[in-house]
Amino acid sequence: MSTDNSDQENSVSQDDKLDATGHMVVAVGAASLNILAALHAASFEDVGDDPWDAVAFARMIAMPGCTALLVCVPGDKPKALVPVGFAVFRVAADEAELLTIGVLPGARRKGAAESVMRHIERSAVAGGARHLILEVAQDNMAARQFYLRLGFKQVGQRPDYYSRANGPRVTAYILRRDLNENEQKASN
Ligand SMILES: CC(C)(COP(=O)(O)OP(=O)(O)OC[C@H]1O[C@@H](n2cnc3c(N)ncnc32)[C@H](O)[C@@H]1OP(=O)(O)O)[C@@H](O)C(=O)NCCC(=O)NCCS
Repeated sequence: MSTDNSDQENSVSQDDKLDATGHMVVAVGAASLNILAALHAASFEDVGDDPWDAVAFARMIAMPGCTALLVCVPGDKPKALVPVGFAVFRVAADEAELLTIGVLPGARRKGAAESVMRHIERSAVAGGARHLILEVAQDNMAARQFYLRLGFKQVGQRPDYYSRANGPRVTAYILRRDLNENEQKASN
């Protein structure tokens, strides 16, 4: 994997296959905290959210039921993988929650985020979840379009939830999607 985190190589099975969009989603652990933080900072810069550092990711993935994922594309060298995005989700009883997701600006609109979401949906169903929830900022039109396309519906909101450097606070929309029979079958 062409990152400055050499430990990352070890977290990827070279037997795994690329999906139909040319991406591979891999679960990662403590060896990948720095790459998760770097991807978060680069992915959220244009959104205006504060970056999460490696300590924040360490706390998050230590929570029960929490999984961190990287979405990767093939690198220049044989079997090398380059991470272009990430996500963290957790499963608790019948509910899964997407805690964060991001794709590097130069890798967007190529299906990376959708690949991660499909992976999460299958894993969540396998872990016993029946629906997936998340929060998205009212001013984040790209993400809102993305979730709309995946079939999420608004079920609530938190006014003044997100802070912005040079503007008023922004409402968080709470979105939810039932995990349907297709994911149930795909998890078997
Ligand atoms: C939202 C985000 C994760 C989408 O990642 P992505 O890899 O570009 O998404 P995909 O390529 O899988 O997009 C799948 C579909 O979602 C929709 N979509 C994605 N980005 C969109 C955009 N900017 N505008 C409109 N629709 C969009 C489209 O329907 C797209 O399919 P299409 O490209 O064939 O039209 C990415 O824009 C991002 O990292 N944004 C910054 C971080 C962020 O906002 N995270 C979410 C916080 S809640």
